Amino acid sequence: MIKVAIIGCGGIGRYHLGHLLQFTDFTKVVGVCDLIESRAEDFAAKTGAKAYTDFKVMYDEVKPDAVFICVPPYCHGEIEYETIRRGIHFFVEKPIALDLDLAKDIREKVAAKNLITAVGFQCRYSTLVEPTNEFIRNYPLCYVDCVRIGGVPGVDWWRNKNLSGGQIVEQTIHNYDLVRYHFGDPESVFTYGARGYVTEVPNYNTDDVSVTSIRFKNGGIGSISTGCYATSGESFDGKITFSARDARAELYILGKLSIFGVKPEETTKSEETEVIKGDGNLARSEGGAVVYNETIDAGIPCDRTFLKAVESGDPSAIRSNYEDAVKTLSFVLACNKSMATGRQIMVDYN
Ligand SMILES: NC(=O)c1ccc[n+]([C@@H]2O[C@H](COP(=O)([O-])OP(=O)(O)OC[C@H]3O[C@@H](n4cnc5c(N)ncnc54)[C@H](O)[C@@H]3O)[C@@H](O)[C@H]2O)c1
Repeated sequence: MIKVAIIGCGGIGRYHLGHLLQFTDFTKVVGVCDLIESRAEDFAAKTGAKAYTDFKVMYDEVKPDAVFICVPPYCHGEIEYETIRRGIHFFVEKPIALDLDLAKDIREKVAAKNLITAVGFQCRYSTLVEPTNEFIRNYPLCYVDCVRIGGVPGVDWWRNKNLSGGQIVEQTIHNYDLVRYHFGDPESVFTYGARGYVTEVPNYNTDDVSVTSIRFKNGGIGSISTGCYATSGESFDGKITFSARDARAELYILGKLSIFGVKPEETTKSEETEVIKGDGNLARSEGGAVVYNETIDAGIPCDRTFLKAVESGDPSAIRSNYEDAVKTLSFVLACNKSMATGRQIMVDYN
């Protein structure tokens, strides 16, 4: 049995707890910790684990093999250092930090201890990943475009850019990470931001909308636009378009993948595949779009892969480890730097 602990019993901690309760054949939740005692107690009641408000006391008493670190962006550092010092494998939520030097230092210490790590980029475990990659293998891309428009999330810390990192770093990082994962590492970015649309949210001091131009190391270019100004679902939007000369794939993350310009018989057949007719407006191909629907909660294989790696000692199936997540962090922090300086920023891979 892998002994698992959780630090941070808020929204995302609850999501992981739901998965952990499905892995009781090979894991056991032995400790749950939150600075807010009632939150830890609530998790304890669901698991039979002991509740703590101090993670060091929890480590002393339950000696976990692995821990899920589910704290807000501004709370990273001490928890990781102590976890590494004690040789505990860890899963950490994105963004892994708000400071690139801190993340790099943690990365070096993880490597020195040879620890198994994973980061909460569960979109990399979606069933849409393979058909997206197959499209990119078959149709060399000329351009990648991404949009993510939504509202201001409910948690208090989110609206303070010093605590959350802002929308690109805290939220749209999933989209940035997937663009990296599918298309390649960015070389440089230029980001414009704008404020002044969100006027009704108290203590709000972050960007309402931003547009980033990207040059990739492979020579390609792309753009990512994101905003949190929407007050109605009618304004919400979200997809990544992978565009080739005679075909395009639209990835609605964790929802569906629509491929235009490809004959259905040329694509991988699977039980989940269905063909929908183009409406003449969207479908540029004669055959309409080939649509793949998401079939799973990608967070389940994401968490399970980490825990199975801890069990076996083999981390090769993990799709996002700490070292890789430092690159995505560097990507999004470069955008913030560009917004602040008005300059093109080279993404730092040191
Ligand atoms: N992967 C995803 O799709 C996804 C989705 C939502 C949130 N997240 C990420 O998860 C992180 C947490 O987000 P959330 O929505 O759960 O926040 P939250 O505010 O709901 O919960 C965070 C909890 O951490 C606790 N905490 C902070 N410091 C602590 C410490 N030192 N010891 C113990 N507990 C501590 C807080 O008291 C709080 O209860 C954020 O970085 C967020 O970006 C990821």
